[in-house]
Amino acid sequence: MEYVKLNNGIEMPQLGFGTYLIPDENFEDALIKAYDMGYRQFDTAWKYNNEARIAEIFKKHGIKRDSVFITTKLSEDSLYRGGYRTGIRSVLNRRNNVSIEQAVQQSFDNLNTDYIDLFLIHAPCKESIEIYKVLEKFYKQGRIRAIGVSNFLQPHIEYLCEVCKVVPAVNQIEISPLNAQIQYTEWLQKRGIAVEAMSTFSRFHSVEPRLEIIENPGIVEVAKAHNKSSVQVVLRWLLQRGIICIPKTWYEPHIKENISIFDFELSAEEMNTVASLDKGKFLNYNNFNRQRMLPKKYRNWEGFKNPDNYGDEFNALPWWKKPFYIY
Ligand SMILES: NC(=O)c1ccc[n+]([C@@H]2O[C@H](COP(=O)([O-])OP(=O)(O)OC[C@H]3O[C@@H](n4cnc5c(N)ncnc54)[C@H](OP(=O)(O)O)[C@@H]3O)[C@@H](O)[C@H]2O)c1
Repeated sequence: MEYVKLNNGIEMPQLGFGTYLIPDENFEDALIKAYDMGYRQFDTAWKYNNEARIAEIFKKHGIKRDSVFITTKLSEDSLYRGGYRTGIRSVLNRRNNVSIEQAVQQSFDNLNTDYIDLFLIHAPCKESIEIYKVLEKFYKQGRIRAIGVSNFLQPHIEYLCEVCKVVPAVNQIEISPLNAQIQYTEWLQKRGIAVEAMSTFSRFHSVEPRLEIIENPGIVEVAKAHNKSSVQVVLRWLLQRGIICIPKTWYEPHIKENISIFDFELSAEEMNTVASLDKGKFLNYNNFNRQRMLPKKYRNWEGFKNPDNYGDEFNALPWWKKPFYIY
């Protein structure tokens, strides 16, 4: 295993195990196989509704708390009744009585632990700054080893750094060959923010792999040259950029395949072959419409002025609906 040193000195395994949407009946088996094969970083979230299950499985199999690095995330939905509060559904939801402290505590209780290795804000939201300040409090008390964010664009990071004290240790964002995020990754890394890639192979809310990546002839050719698979080549491409990866699968040969990526190296030309698929757009998790946490000067960011950045789904809305989808 290779490690990334976070900006506070904590070492995070560079390869982890994504746990979103793994079916219940496969969950225990997949988690334990991953642990036995050497995975030591597990990525969960309040929203995945599997934190308690992970704790229960680790306990049942005698996996010691300090032998694993656990990341979880606080979603704005954990503060609201009825789950979702965004878009048109927000009208149906009322403010719940869950405070941010209680929402953070819920993850501690679910995970049955007295410390969490990495706690992220799941996505930018109106309460991001308040949430981050609570995370800072837990961090200063030593209950969270590192804090960070997910799905944050450049202005979200800039504003957070302006008003909060602790520079995020990590930003977990969509990165794949189709959305390579070369410049943004470098921008974050230069500021000491480690980049974690999620949703590298999947299509939004689906368990089907993205064949346009796996079957791409350029990637297939690189894979053949190293006697590896396309997925291994893409994961290697991420590792060599210093990015933390958390592929998700519950199929044993794929779990094994995804951790067998530390014994080969891509050349600069091969790195470019993978990056050449880049469309420069978010495909699964587009957060350009998440602007409400930002004061006006940050909402004037160039990126927000380009309609292309908002994605097809947003652009297909009639003009009068669009303001309701900026949140
Ligand atoms: N912060 C956020 O907002 C956010 C959003 C999404 C995800 N995440 C995190 O990121 C993790 C990964 O993202 P994801 O769940 O969207 O999944 P993903 O890892 O991007 O893609 C999963 C797909 O890749 C396929 N796959 C994995 N390994 C493979 C291999 N070796 N060969 C062929 N196909 C392979 C899987 O198919 P098979 O089942 O056939 O192997 C599955 O269809 C999540 O589990 C979650 O922890 C975070």
